[in-house]
Amino acid sequence: MANNTHLTWAEIDLEAIKHNIQAIKSLASPQTQVMAVVKANAYGHGALPVARAALQAGATWLAVNRVNEGIALREAGIDARILVLGYCPPFQAANVVRYRLTPAVTTLETVRALAKRAAALPRPFSVHLKIDSGMGRFGLLPDEVVPFARALQAMPPLRLEGIFSHFAVADESDVDFSRRQLQTFRGVLNALQKTEIAIPL
Ligand SMILES: Cc1ncc(COP(=O)(O)O)c(C=O)c1O
Repeated sequence: MANNTHLTWAEIDLEAIKHNIQAIKSLASPQTQVMAVVKANAYGHGALPVARAALQAGATWLAVNRVNEGIALREAGIDARILVLGYCPPFQAANVVRYRLTPAVTTLETVRALAKRAAALPRPFSVHLKIDSGMGRFGLLPDEVVPFARALQAMPPLRLEGIFSHFAVADESDVDFSRRQLQTFRGVLNALQKTEIAIPL
């Protein structure tokens, strides 16, 4: 043990992580991409080794909570797509573009800052929308989504690539609240479809 002031430690079996990713892949359709959430140092398991194991096992996306977590993965040589789940402040726009991170956008200030930084790129820069379907922590409220998506579409350096939400109590046996969240999320997707805003992921 390098640090003998710690009397407890966790041993992480990276083979078990690979096995779990493969099990998830086997349940999903072949065209479904698997994203490994490695936020908060992969929940204490070690962001870099877990990210590498997940990618080796077939995950194609990683997710982190903050921009700096994404930068750390890039600087360690990770090339896969990285979604930043949490709030992306406008001052981080330059880093997001430079490190090819994919931000969840929820404010026009951030969208404008990203559009400015992405203007010189050869291709549109992808962003995702985070919808608050009931968790109450972070995201666009359902009524805000269509006007926000329209504003985003008017900024050619940016491409609306994905949309997602977060189930608040998905690990509880009572699935009522999760069902209601899913219904709310589907309502948002329908409203976008009616306005012919296509979001591929
Ligand atoms: C869609 C989604 N899944 C999972 C997570 C992971 O968060 P938590 O560990 O708090 O569930 C987040 C965090 O923002 C998220 O947005």
